[in-house]
Amino acid sequence: MRAAISLLVLLLSMCVVQTESQGTDASTQLDVSTELKELRDLVVELKGRLVASDADDLAMKQRLAASETKVEALERALQDTKAEMRTEVDNLKKENAAIEKKVEALEKEVRAAPKVAFSAALGESGPVLAKRNDDLNLVFKKVITNVGDAYNSTTGFFTAPVRGVYYIRFTVIDEMDENHYHMFIRLYKNGRWLQQLLEYESNMEVAYLSSGLALQLEQGDTVNMVLPAGRRVSDSTDDSRSTFSGFLLFPCSYAQCPNATVPPTTHWADQFGWD
Ligand SMILES: *[C@@H]1O[C@H](CO)[C@@H](O)[C@H](O)[C@H]1NC(C)=O
Repeated sequence: MRAAISLLVLLLSMCVVQTESQGTDASTQLDVSTELKELRDLVVELKGRLVASDADDLAMKQRLAASETKVEALERALQDTKAEMRTEVDNLKKENAAIEKKVEALEKEVRAAPKVAFSAALGESGPVLAKRNDDLNLVFKKVITNVGDAYNSTTGFFTAPVRGVYYIRFTVIDEMDENHYHMFIRLYKNGRWLQQLLEYESNMEVAYLSSGLALQLEQGDTVNMVLPAGRRVSDSTDDSRSTFSGFLLFPCSYAQCPNATVPPTTHWADQFGWD
């Protein structure tokens, strides 16, 4: 705009020079002064426009400055967000590493956890009798399952390989007759009995005794089945009718499983010599 005005001023001065050099004719002078007036008006108008344009410039500059401030603020915010995200990502990576470590430890634990399960049948082709005055350790000779080798089929004892909770169960059968119509069976833990079951069958038919217990065992604790003195159970080698089974439900720490209480070892049947 300034350049245009300068050009106009230059043109104007040239016109003045020209009119001065070109004659003195009155009509010519009138034309020239009219033109001069028009040119002056034009210059005034252009000046006005220039002022307005300066004002526009100022407003534009202010807007630009405001925009720059905004952009700077946005850039700062963006930097902050980036930093926050970096921290977040770092934290997530750390968390992920911790989780992976835990999973690894759990996998290790699962792999290391002992696998214990057994089932054995008496493996006798008929009755097993306890002597009149002696309890008999029942030996379930016919091993069906013995993962972990914790059951000894020579002694009939199961020995807990780790501290934990085990599910121990048994089923025994007998065919009753006039001389044997009471059945008794005991589950022993560490040489003391935990459970005694009895059955009375006056119809001289087949009778069963069966049970299952969750037992908390220390490493090395033993569990076995005992036939009280004078009692009888039966089996059939093919049918595996009388069986002893157990499996580890879960190993556990002292914190998870405090010491188990030891139950009494006497029973009314012992006290009265009930037959
Ligand atoms: C079973 O017990 C007997 C007698 O104590 C022992 O000789 C044998 O080695 C044991 N068997 C196993 C597999 O531990």
